[in-house]
Amino acid sequence: MNMVSSPVACPVPPCSNGDVDSFGFTSARERWPIILAGVIDDISRTTSDSDGKKAEEGKELVRKIDALRYDVERDHVIQPLEDDGKEDIAWYNSELKRQGPADGSPMTWGKAPWLYSECYLYRAVRVAIAQTNEWKDYDVFARQKLDAFKGSERAVVELAVRYKALSGQLDGNETDETLELLFREFIDISLWGNATDLSLLTNLTLDQLQSLQGKEARQASEKNILVNDVHKAWAAVHDGSEGRTSRIDIVLDNAGFEFYTDVLFGLFMLDSGIIDTVVFHPKTISWFVSDVMPVDLAVLVNALKDTNVFGHPSEHAEELAFLCDRLVEYSSEGRIIMRESDFWTTPYAFWEIRNGGLGGGHELWEDLKSSRLVIFKGDLNYRKLTYDGEWPKTTSFSTAIGPLASAGLRLFSLRTCKADVVVGLETGRQEKLEAEWTAMGKKPPQGWSWSGKWAVMPFTDGKSA
Ligand code: F6P
Ligand code: MG
Repeated sequence: MNMVSSPVACPVPPCSNGDVDSFGFTSARERWPIILAGVIDDISRTTSDSDGKKAEEGKELVRKIDALRYDVERDHVIQPLEDDGKEDIAWYNSELKRQGPADGSPMTWGKAPWLYSECYLYRAVRVAIAQTNEWKDYDVFARQKLDAFKGSERAVVELAVRYKALSGQLDGNETDETLELLFREFIDISLWGNATDLSLLTNLTLDQLQSLQGKEARQASEKNILVNDVHKAWAAVHDGSEGRTSRIDIVLDNAGFEFYTDVLFGLFMLDSGIIDTVVFHPKTISWFVSDVMPVDLAVLVNALKDTNVFGHPSEHAEELAFLCDRLVEYSSEGRIIMRESDFWTTPYAFWEIRNGGLGGGHELWEDLKSSRLVIFKGDLNYRKLTYDGEWPKTTSFSTAIGPLASAGLRLFSLRTCKADVVVGLETGRQEKLEAEWTAMGKKPPQGWSWSGKWAVMPFTDGKSA
């Protein structure tokens, strides 16, 4: 194993919570306290339905998370994480020093690197949970995730109906052109499924969400895809050379509606015979509010087979059950797999995936190298691909992903833009987007890149010199 032990340096500084013009600035001051208040509320609800040791621990959890919220709100020093028995605690704590201010003073919430401090926030919640006896498997965001799926009834049903009809027509005689068109459609659905990130719901209503999800909205949004390498991704799924297995990997983002669209994409890839296996990569802890955890597969299966899932008997229970059966069948055949790794929730950028000494990504990297295509869903995964760096927006994707550009992974990112970092734009495009955003009456001009209205889908074959 390659035992390199220090993180790869990034040539540009990371986005910072101290930059008044950045989304990190607003996130740290406005969104995180709200998210932590939601965690406290959820734990309090469960505590009031519990007794004995669980209730006692619930109260202690509330106290700890409230203290964390207080620190975030008051711009206090970020303290080293307490040990919860996992290897990554030491990595978090050494990054706390390494990424701290150059003068050696301690890192505070209001000026910390955005990516590091946001990962720390969710890891700190996990530490508190892991230190209990009765709450160890508790997902503080489970209620919100399921509610958001239920709140997406219109789009869930529309897609189930269309999928069942389509799969009845797939007979193995489709031309390459037809398959490519369908591939593009499912990629689009999965891309815009990423507009539903629950951590953004602190300022977006469910009605707005539904309008993002409908078919017409998706088509109208094509023009908002700023970088679109879908044709390269399609070529890659066909190319089994270089010892690639007939498999695609999806590094998941959000549960609920987005995961549902990822599953539909996976079912299509299997039902059409384009590939043999789909490997999903969830997070192993509650992460950025809505991210998929292993249990969310069972949650989805149960939701699909519950004829009353939307609070009333569903007219399309048959179509939902059809999807459920396909999903269960492929899972039991080992053709849909959930593969866990703690690498995805370390404080590191994905640049460290080859680094045997850090993050535990090395085995993952060895495994992913044989995949036809590795799809990274969502905003946070994109930030981790690009080190969440302050790259000029015209920087090429292969520059911004550093060593990943030559890591031998065929990497395809499907990301609606909800943060500052965006690369691969043509010269002058950023200025046009800022003008367009301002003309819509929105402020500040750079806010277009936080809004989730624009997207990027860059591909790399991992062979850059
Ligand atoms: O923009 C808000 C935010 O929480 C970012 O901090 C984070 O990158 C993103 O949303 C999470 O979005 P996604 O679920 O698409 O990764
Ligand atoms: Mg997410």
